[in-house]
Amino acid sequence: MNKNQFGKKGWTPDRIGDLNGKTYVITGTTSGIGFEAVKILLSKGAKVVMLNRNPKKSADAIHILKQELGNHIDVLAIKMDLAEQAFVKKVAEEVLKTVPRIDALICNAAIAQVPKQTLTVDGWESQMGTNYYGNWTLQAFLFPLVEKSKGRIVTVGSMGYDMGIKTIKFDDLNWDKDYTPNNAYSQSKLAQIMTVYELQDRLKEAGKTDVKAYACHPGSSRTNLINTSGSFMMKFIFNMMKLSPLTQSAKKGAYPQLMCATEPNLDQSGFYGPTGRNNWTGPVGAHKLEQHAKDKAVTTRLWELSEKETSVKWNI
Ligand SMILES: NC(=O)c1ccc[n+]([C@@H]2O[C@H](COP(=O)([O-])OP(=O)(O)OC[C@H]3O[C@@H](n4cnc5c(N)ncnc54)[C@H](OP(=O)(O)O)[C@@H]3O)[C@@H](O)[C@H]2O)c1
Repeated sequence: MNKNQFGKKGWTPDRIGDLNGKTYVITGTTSGIGFEAVKILLSKGAKVVMLNRNPKKSADAIHILKQELGNHIDVLAIKMDLAEQAFVKKVAEEVLKTVPRIDALICNAAIAQVPKQTLTVDGWESQMGTNYYGNWTLQAFLFPLVEKSKGRIVTVGSMGYDMGIKTIKFDDLNWDKDYTPNNAYSQSKLAQIMTVYELQDRLKEAGKTDVKAYACHPGSSRTNLINTSGSFMMKFIFNMMKLSPLTQSAKKGAYPQLMCATEPNLDQSGFYGPTGRNNWTGPVGAHKLEQHAKDKAVTTRLWELSEKETSVKWNI
């Protein structure tokens, strides 16, 4: 194994300095690693804008954060459903008008292991529509402000990128033929990761160095992910796994995205997550990314398809 650049313990939030004056926009913070990431960012003095689909859960999260960190914290929640393109665009416009800067946009929200093929209102398979196209459009809309702020876009992927088919299923992206929960989830996560590296290429080609884009994943973390959208069987399996050392806390799961959002001079070409067995747990750092995630012909075709499907073009 390569030596971890952050030492034996890997990257930890101790490395984050004072974040006063910095603003982070993050999706999906009502539970899991998103919630933990917000807590750590706020504890370092940052302003955090949370984009969540459930206002009651957002209010509960803010209540807990204030109880734990104090009433002075600078946090607000805006209602946004990533599964609806019109909603994402409306909220992105609102963020552009009301939030003065974005030091990092952290694309964390997702659904996983949806038991049966379901389509979003826009007509895409639900995991592709939510995890991929939802984040795609949000990023494209907020890109100008991230650029103005010399900020970062952080994509929370998954080791699932390597657990389904190892390319994009362009001929049947809605899985009309042979839907399986794992293949469809994995595909959405592979697509998310591919787009990070394609974005880097496009920024480089345009001579833009102010924005940085990072891909990471939380390993196997004890969160609500499977309980929210998985089948009874998947919930059973994951809840059993949660009792084993094969999983880690949601707090530790938050480290890779926090690292990508805050660590100075982090190499964009890397893929970041736990570096222990199977990359499920262990010290956080860079680790191997299988080549299919950077297959240039596929990443380019996916980008072009995404522009067509969403009718959204990035202003790069
Ligand atoms: N936990 C793991 O082991 C693991 C492994 C690999 C990758 N990941 C990735 O880690 C990220 C965070 O997941 P997590 O494990 O922390 O799960 P989680 O506890 O279920 O958190 C997911 C968050 O996303 C939100 N969300 C879901 N659909 C949304 C939508 N349509 N619009 C807006 N927000 C939405 C959820 O909101 P609600 O509360 O309203 O449902 C929740 O706040 C995801 O990208 C996931 O793919 C997790």
